[in-house]
Amino acid sequence: MAHSDPALAQESPLRESELSDADALVREVGWNQVAADWRIFLDLGTVYAVRNGAGRVVATAATLPHGGRFAWISMVLVTAEYRRQGLARRLLNRCVTDLTRNGLVPVLDATPAGRSVYTALGFADTWGMHRLACHGWQSHDATAATHDAGVIRAITDSDWRALCHYDATAFGADRRGVLDRLRGRVPGVDLIVHRGDRVVGFLLGRDGRSATQLGPLVANDDTIALALLHRGLAATQGPIYIDLADTKTRLRGVLEEGGFLPQRPLTRMVHKRGESFDDPVRTFAVAGPELG
Ligand SMILES: CC(C)(COP(=O)(O)OP(=O)(O)OC[C@H]1O[C@@H](n2cnc3c(N)ncnc32)[C@H](O)[C@@H]1OP(=O)(O)O)[C@@H](O)C(=O)NCCC(=O)NCCS
Repeated sequence: MAHSDPALAQESPLRESELSDADALVREVGWNQVAADWRIFLDLGTVYAVRNGAGRVVATAATLPHGGRFAWISMVLVTAEYRRQGLARRLLNRCVTDLTRNGLVPVLDATPAGRSVYTALGFADTWGMHRLACHGWQSHDATAATHDAGVIRAITDSDWRALCHYDATAFGADRRGVLDRLRGRVPGVDLIVHRGDRVVGFLLGRDGRSATQLGPLVANDDTIALALLHRGLAATQGPIYIDLADTKTRLRGVLEEGGFLPQRPLTRMVHKRGESFDDPVRTFAVAGPELG
């Protein structure tokens, strides 16, 4: 149904008092974000909202700068009644204009539905991943997998600076502000691996509306990544999501053997650029399509 509501013609930043409307959009599409996730965008980025004449938020899009090079665009949501009227396209245009004006390259991880909107706006595919979901991880003996990995242990305050530096070299930008907001959300999965005094991998996670999300999972090789995953999975209760790079076939095999199923594909897309900023060797699982 097309709406001629003049209120729809404008977008402006989401207000704190509108977080419950924003949350309703997430629930409508069955996404996993909770209030702590919206807060990441409110505090570290910008959330644009379109409201109807009654003042209800009917569409959103968020930007999240990562260092001074690029920025994520995400939380592109339009409530069903207001779709196919150009709201997503307009919000996206607004985000892209803001970011490029500030010298930041827009990046996003697209669902198949979003991809058609983004392609038309000049975003190019770089690499693919799949959301893998599991309702009950069948615990395996993790000892074999951890044997050659290095020393795995819980992250401590004294690790944080080196961990954030290691992440920045793999992700392509310093995103310490985001990592700060993930740490501590799921006790037991915040893990780091050292070889000698070098960081060679880490895992973080976060709680969600329908599942615990494990990621980012960044590691020098498969053995380290598997060891982190086994330890993290053993510490996680209930449903779990992991957004795993399609190139990581060994991990995918282990996860599928343990009960994970692919839920949907996601495509990392970069505005007017055919390659992403991340290191494909060390990027195993992303923090989430909304965060990078
Ligand atoms: C994807 C979504 C944001 C699109 O919102 P929207 O306001 O309806 O999109 P727009 O009206 O701006 O559409 C712009 C163009 O994108 C394409 N498009 C949008 N929705 C589409 C769909 N379901 N199938 C195919 N193409 C689609 C069309 O080319 C459309 O232009 P047209 O209507 O002139 O043909 C909305 O359907 C939604 O909230 N989906 C669920 C959440 C989601 O997947 N978000 C994207 C995350 S990456």
